[in-house]
Amino acid sequence: MNSVKWLIRLLLVFFLFHFSFSADTITLDHFIHDNNDEAIVSAGNIFALGFFSAGSSTNRYVGIWYYQIPVKTPVWVANRDNPINDTSGILRIDGRGNLALFQGNQTLPVWSTNISIAGPVNSFAQILDSGNLVLLQNDSRKALLWQSFGHPTNTWLSHMKIGFNLRTGLNQSYTSWKSPDDPGVGNYTFRMNPGVSPQMVLYKGSVPVWRSGTWTGIMWSGIPEMEQTLLFNHYFNDTDGELSFSSDAVNASLVTRYVTNETGVTQRILWNTASQSWIISYTAPNELKAKKDTIGAPILSTCSGSVSGTCQVLRHFVVQTNKAPTTIVTIEAPVHLWELGTTANLNLYYS
Ligand SMILES: *[C@@H]1O[C@H](CO)[C@@H](O)[C@H](O)[C@H]1NC(C)=O
Ligand SMILES: *[C@@H]1O[C@H](CO)[C@@H](O)[C@H](O)[C@H]1NC(C)=O
Ligand SMILES: *[C@@H]1O[C@H](CO)[C@@H](O)[C@H](O)[C@H]1NC(C)=O
Ligand SMILES: *[C@@H]1O[C@H](CO)[C@@H](O)[C@H](O)[C@H]1NC(C)=O
Ligand SMILES: *[C@@H]1O[C@H](CO)[C@@H](O)[C@H](O)[C@H]1NC(C)=O
Ligand SMILES: *[C@@H]1O[C@H](CO)[C@@H](O)[C@H](O)[C@H]1NC(C)=O
Ligand SMILES: *[C@@H]1O[C@H](CO)[C@@H](O)[C@H](O)[C@H]1NC(C)=O
Ligand SMILES: *[C@@H]1O[C@H](CO)[C@@H](O)[C@H](O)[C@H]1NC(C)=O
Ligand SMILES: *[C@@H]1O[C@H](CO)[C@@H](O)[C@H](O)[C@H]1NC(C)=O
Repeated sequence: MNSVKWLIRLLLVFFLFHFSFSADTITLDHFIHDNNDEAIVSAGNIFALGFFSAGSSTNRYVGIWYYQIPVKTPVWVANRDNPINDTSGILRIDGRGNLALFQGNQTLPVWSTNISIAGPVNSFAQILDSGNLVLLQNDSRKALLWQSFGHPTNTWLSHMKIGFNLRTGLNQSYTSWKSPDDPGVGNYTFRMNPGVSPQMVLYKGSVPVWRSGTWTGIMWSGIPEMEQTLLFNHYFNDTDGELSFSSDAVNASLVTRYVTNETGVTQRILWNTASQSWIISYTAPNELKAKKDTIGAPILSTCSGSVSGTCQVLRHFVVQTNKAPTTIVTIEAPVHLWELGTTANLNLYYS
């Protein structure tokens, strides 16, 4: 009896080890196949790269999603306009050293990083905890050959840039999917417009539908929420041929992304661990005009000078309101933390 238990335990350990172990690289010897549901996972189990289908479609795409979030949320798609119509897809390093996606045994790739690499072919692809998929030279320098952060789709993660670099030719913009079932290039693009006063602009086709206003030194003039938010750091760079903007969360454990949605908005979205769902914290174009509302329990708060449950300077946090979608709001006065645990009436000011 004991030995049976012992054997079961051993098998269980083997099983768990086998299925929880995933390399974070695709090498000359290690491919991933769609028909075995294979994926690679970043070292800290943050992001996965593998095959998925969008919405109700059965077409197959290679993409990156959050490994630990149960709602599969693609943040990048390789073959967005060239889906594979069966599960024969293979993602591997090809004979030129590129990361390439093949349908079954076809010789022409459906998608490829498509760069010319000098010297002997010895490269590998790696998915990082930032969500960046990188193609590296397999030598002592590990030179960066290609990165998904340089080729965004509709999602802007922390440390990804919007903008361009005239020296390297990078020009990074974000384009909506066609529909929730089709990650193909849609009608809305979010990009940096150069000029005397650079701005971020949301386009429908070639028609601008929203502008961020100009950079004031700490924020975009059309996004006053940025001045006060304590949740994010913002990085504007206008030097040496580069014009770019990026951001990250002050607390790196906050899962956050910007999405240029096929519905014609760009939104900052946060993962709410408590409710296990995505919430929208900022929308552009922003049509919220309400002045007063009732708030529920806070989803996330930032606070400095917190002493034994009392928050002295809490002004901004994300709440779920009755009327409007979740947004970052300004609280009229400092609030005690314990009041935030229950439903309360407060004066909220939307920007
Ligand atoms: C790098 O190259 C060495 C020598 O060819 C090889 O043994 C190793 O598996 C390669 N590593 C990766 C990550 O491709
Ligand atoms: C699937 O795609 C292949 C290659 O593009 C094509 O030859 C084939 O006809 C397609 N099959 C179906 C069922 O659409
Ligand atoms: C490719 O795969 C198809 C279907 O599995 C098979 O019929 C064909 O012989 C294969 N071609 C080569 C060159 O291996
Ligand atoms: C690779 O780039 C060449 C030249 O720009 C282009 O003709 C070709 O279609 C590209 N191939 C893939 C698989 O993207
Ligand atoms: C970046 O690309 C967009 C279109 O994709 C283009 O309109 C714009 O001029 C480009 N910017 C630079 C600086 O090349
Ligand atoms: C994009 O816009 C065109 C012209 O307005 C429209 O015909 C098309 O359906 C739109 N595509 C999507 C995916 O919404
Ligand atoms: C700003 O851009 C320049 C030129 O590309 C680059 O050298 C520099 O590292 C960038 N600064 C930051 C903080 O990213
Ligand atoms: C960051 O957020 C996590 C989860 O909400 C929290 O446990 C942690 O204390 C926070 N870290 C800091 C430095 O505020
Ligand atoms: C766009 O927004 C709609 C409505 O909120 C949502 O159903 C859809 O999933 C969003 N699309 C993406 C790609 O996030």
